[in-house]
Amino acid sequence: MPKIWAFITDFFTYETTKSVVVKSRSVGIINRVVQLLIIIYFLCWVFLHEKAYQVRDSGIESSVMTKVKGFGYHNNRVMDVADYVAPTQGAAVFCIITKLIITENQFQGFCPESGSKYKCNTDEECDKYLGRIITGACVNSSRGRRCEMEGWYLSLIIEKPLNEQPMMEVENFTIFIKNSIRFPMFNVTRGNFPSSLNATYIRSCTYDPEHNHHCPIFKVGEVLRYTGQNFSTIAQTGGEIAINIEWQCNLDESEERCEPHYSFTRLDAVFQKNGIAKGYNFRFAKYYKNENGTEFRTLHKAYAIRFDILVTGLAGKFNTVPTLINVVAAFTSVGLGTVLCDIILLNFLKGADQYKAKKFEMVSESQLQILLSREGCSQLSIQPEEKTSDDSGTVSLCLDQQL
Ligand SMILES: *[C@@H]1O[C@H](CO)[C@@H](O)[C@H](O)[C@H]1NC(C)=O
Repeated sequence: MPKIWAFITDFFTYETTKSVVVKSRSVGIINRVVQLLIIIYFLCWVFLHEKAYQVRDSGIESSVMTKVKGFGYHNNRVMDVADYVAPTQGAAVFCIITKLIITENQFQGFCPESGSKYKCNTDEECDKYLGRIITGACVNSSRGRRCEMEGWYLSLIIEKPLNEQPMMEVENFTIFIKNSIRFPMFNVTRGNFPSSLNATYIRSCTYDPEHNHHCPIFKVGEVLRYTGQNFSTIAQTGGEIAINIEWQCNLDESEERCEPHYSFTRLDAVFQKNGIAKGYNFRFAKYYKNENGTEFRTLHKAYAIRFDILVTGLAGKFNTVPTLINVVAAFTSVGLGTVLCDIILLNFLKGADQYKAKKFEMVSESQLQILLSREGCSQLSIQPEEKTSDDSGTVSLCLDQQL
């Protein structure tokens, strides 16, 4: 029982550190300067610049709708939106076709392969290609004997001059972007243009970062110029452009000031120097049936500028929890000044040894033994039951009884 009682009385104690006051001007100045720097850092950078008193919401919910407008002239045809935009739904990712290579009248069936790799004299020579679309037969063709293949082929090859010139009018096409977002944590909903903008303005404006940054209509040529790309090159090979819509909102201010910021980058810029996989193109086909029911197709190889509209967002609002945590962190950090001052004080200052002697009480075992034998433990002001300290782990000075 007395042991438990002793434990309880030990437990309900408070320990505090004993301090050494150093009346040295140089260390005092260093100490205050370090503390001041830490306070300035927390006030200016952590609180004012990084807004550490706010909770953040980066889980932005976003919806994007796009609409392209303009007419172009390509392959001796007038092209409108339905001809050059793919897919047509007006999603956040869409392509504007700048160049089309069209192969008409392809039929499904058997025909000689055209590549010179497939030259042959006997069926056996074609066997090594078997398992692909090659049938294994060696047949006659206008260019000599070739391996036969199965697939889409041209019923008759019409040598027509391909229009290699891309549709230059794309430069003047416009992209209208409607973006609505919500920050679910704060239940704030915003659109990329203010509802106060009047209809005539929206119909006639084009985006300009300086004078028209509210305007949601972007000219393709301008977008490419912002990314530093040359329109005629990208129209020839295709490419991928990102339109980034960035929402940085400080909801401690008025919601009206929560506005999007647009930036433009070329996504496939890393592959520019790469020989392969340069640009952007894809193939699609349109299918028809002639009178006797045979299916044929028109194959399109499209070079296109692909636009990806990427929406990112971060909203912040005052909250007590991060404020408290950071205030505590700031106060704790002010104490860091002592670490630096201690190093200077104990190592580099005149009289460092004296300071050391004041700061650290040295007790060697032999000294202790003398003390113990002469006056007993009590003289060290350490009672036997105070040997252990529960809450701070400091080692008490009194040694075991057998000493
Ligand atoms: C684009 O528009 C400008 C101004 O209206 C015009 O001068 C230019 O010729 C147009 N570009 C093309 C490729 O049609």
